[in-house]
Amino acid sequence: MKKINIAIDGLSATGKGETTKYLAKQLNYKLLDSGAMYRGVTWDLKRKNIIPEDVTEIDLASIHIEFGENGHLYVNGKDVEHNIRTEVISKLTPQYAKEKIIRYYINKELKELVKERGYIAEGRDIANNIMPDAEIKLFLVGDSEIRAKRRQEQLKKKGILENVETIRIDLESRDHADMNRDVAPLVKHREAIEIDTTQISMDEQNEFILSIIQKYLGK
Ligand code: C5P
Repeated sequence: MKKINIAIDGLSATGKGETTKYLAKQLNYKLLDSGAMYRGVTWDLKRKNIIPEDVTEIDLASIHIEFGENGHLYVNGKDVEHNIRTEVISKLTPQYAKEKIIRYYINKELKELVKERGYIAEGRDIANNIMPDAEIKLFLVGDSEIRAKRRQEQLKKKGILENVETIRIDLESRDHADMNRDVAPLVKHREAIEIDTTQISMDEQNEFILSIIQKYLGK
């Protein structure tokens, strides 16, 4: 069966990651978590005390990012999956992701990866910049209070207790930074199907999106 490419963009904590993993498994497609790459670069630069405005090509050339067979992100051979998922890195990443030099570096890596078809890629600028020819483009949104509650539950499972209001403020400020940056801001592609995740469960979201893809594939 002919393979297509699927681009999933949207706001923070709309379940893009979970849906992408689910779809990749169901369809036997490769997944690409572009946010993990921005997080990995942020983690490494922060550790070296390099602030976003000071990043140079030399700094970036020394950062080698790749995904392992286990789906984890590796930075210079180190599995950083846990390091990049902290709230500190979540907050900091948009500050680095707004820098042209960093976006250019990650875009080059991403475009190299998605040359073939059979990818489900998720992020903020996938449809607009990485895979403008993706056959299916989705844009996920949702009420910030509900998204914050879901994120709170996820954190609770990891043993992290966080105030829902603090999470909501963080999510909104992250979205604001991503939507208002000068380079490649988060904007819905004109061909993208917008999906409001507010009233639906994770399972319903997964099934609904899978059904859109299967319809396209003629299944
Ligand atoms: O999706 P995730 O929450 O892991 O993304 C972390 C951050 O990385 C986003 O808030 C955004 O600043 C940045 N990002 C981006 N472009 C992408 C993916 C992520 O700017 N394609």
